[in-house]
Amino acid sequence: MSLAVRDAQLREIMDDPDCDPVRLRRTLERFAITNRFVSGWGRTYRDLIRPALAALDRPATVLDLGCGGGDVLRRVVHAARRDGFEVTGLGVDPDERAIAATRPMDGVTYRVADSRRLLAEGSAFHVVISNHVLHHLDEHALHAFLDDSSSLATVLCVHSDIRRAPLAYTAFAVGIIPIAPGTYLRTDGLRSIRRSFTPLELSAVLPPGWSVETSWPFRVLAVHRPARA
Ligand SMILES: C[S@@+](CC[C@H](N)C(=O)[O-])C[C@H]1O[C@@H](n2cnc3c(N)ncnc32)[C@H](O)[C@@H]1O
Repeated sequence: MSLAVRDAQLREIMDDPDCDPVRLRRTLERFAITNRFVSGWGRTYRDLIRPALAALDRPATVLDLGCGGGDVLRRVVHAARRDGFEVTGLGVDPDERAIAATRPMDGVTYRVADSRRLLAEGSAFHVVISNHVLHHLDEHALHAFLDDSSSLATVLCVHSDIRRAPLAYTAFAVGIIPIAPGTYLRTDGLRSIRRSFTPLELSAVLPPGWSVETSWPFRVLAVHRPARA
């Protein structure tokens, strides 16, 4: 198997509405562990989100699109509050099974919705984030997601995803073993890597106004800073 070419035809088990609900729930809950080790949100917060919040002189709102079990949003809100910012968060996911796996946190809410619904409701947020969503989307859905998220954000959009690379694949295949039993983490994680973008590929599909950043090993960020605040 080669990772030279992106395998956009692969389907992840968790996207199957009929997959085992117990394994899915465990998978969503254990994303909190994998995200902490592989997703680099500590650095993304420090490099991109914290400066954006510091430039705002009012309470900030953060939206997580495709939030899954919601751990990334909780972590970003927690980090922002530790830095003294007043922040509330909304996590949305079109899959009700994901929202059912979220955990409560003061000032953070979760609901079943997608970006289109939020736009139709006239919502806006200072910062819009996502984690591991871009590689899930086909070309049409990806463009809609990027357009919607840039319309929903007033200060910053940052979508973080896996960067496809042979070393990422091998390291994940081995590193995930201790927490994979009883979940879809290993199968879907490896499929995700095969579906994910290289920086050049992502650059080629991003609309004008977006840029690709790569600060953390095996990560790729799609970043957009709206001209309004
Ligand atoms: C691999 S999971 C990542 C979940 C979470 N962000 C995390 O990092 O743990 C991908 C999530 O994207 C959601 N998703 C799929 N299509 C979406 C779309 N068009 N807009 C928003 N979320 C979507 C799925 O329901 C799923 O929960």
